[in-house]
Amino acid sequence: MTAKPTVLRDLPADLQQERLPKHVAVIMDGNGRWAKQRGLPRIMGHRRGVDTLKELLRCCRDWGIGALTAYAFSTENWGRPLEEVDFLMTLFERVLRQELREMMEEQVRIRFVGDLSRLPASLRAEIERSMAETSQNQGIQFSVATNYGGRQEIVQACRAIATQVEQGKLHSEDIDEALFSQHLYTQGTVDPDLLIRTSGEMRISNFLLWQMAYAEIYITDTLWPDFDRAEFHRALVDYQQRDRRFGRLSS
Ligand code: IPE
Ligand code: IPE
Ligand code: MG
Repeated sequence: MTAKPTVLRDLPADLQQERLPKHVAVIMDGNGRWAKQRGLPRIMGHRRGVDTLKELLRCCRDWGIGALTAYAFSTENWGRPLEEVDFLMTLFERVLRQELREMMEEQVRIRFVGDLSRLPASLRAEIERSMAETSQNQGIQFSVATNYGGRQEIVQACRAIATQVEQGKLHSEDIDEALFSQHLYTQGTVDPDLLIRTSGEMRISNFLLWQMAYAEIYITDTLWPDFDRAEFHRALVDYQQRDRRFGRLSS
């Protein structure tokens, strides 16, 4: 299959294409508060949040951003009421089934990052199907962090590496940052350049702890269901004004 040419649709004039982030990560927060403000049950916020994510994915594709990672469910979110957890698992499964065709048309490569073993079997089956079917697509890499925890990810990487050392396949001196990164769920994807968190919370909540080392952080008070193209545009304008020094001095 030949790759579709990248057509940049409607890139706003104040954004410089060569200075766009290669990878955007987003903590989609504030669904519950959005619903509460409207006197609706929390799950209505999650439902609306799906539309926001679909629009952000389209926008990243239109503007030529190569990778998007969205935090959908953390290892700590199991502590929520059972009805909410169940609703979310069912929602993920339904959305995946509904969106597969469009993802194929849009050449999206979907991947799930996190410990998938604890997810309901029917969701896992849908996840595996979507990853397999889209694996050869040539467009945006879309990662969904589901039952994801940054610490859990680091621990599982340590275990995998320790096993190889035990089996004599690896020497401890060979362990370096590059090798470690290859054992993370995100292996093969550049670290995020930009982290967006909605709903005004000033924390990372166990998201991409290793990968976030030099991400630029953008926090908006807007609740996730209200985060739209105009908001994303503002985040990118802000990002392009940052002086990314990586510990060095400004040029
Ligand atoms: C984020 O919205 C979605 C998930 C964590 C699944 P929240 O559900 O955390 O919404 P708030 O923070 O309670 O408003
Ligand atoms: C982070 O949001 C997790 C996701 C967006 C999936 P939370 O709402 O769970 O984070 P805290 O509890 O406010 O830190
Ligand atoms: Mg929250």
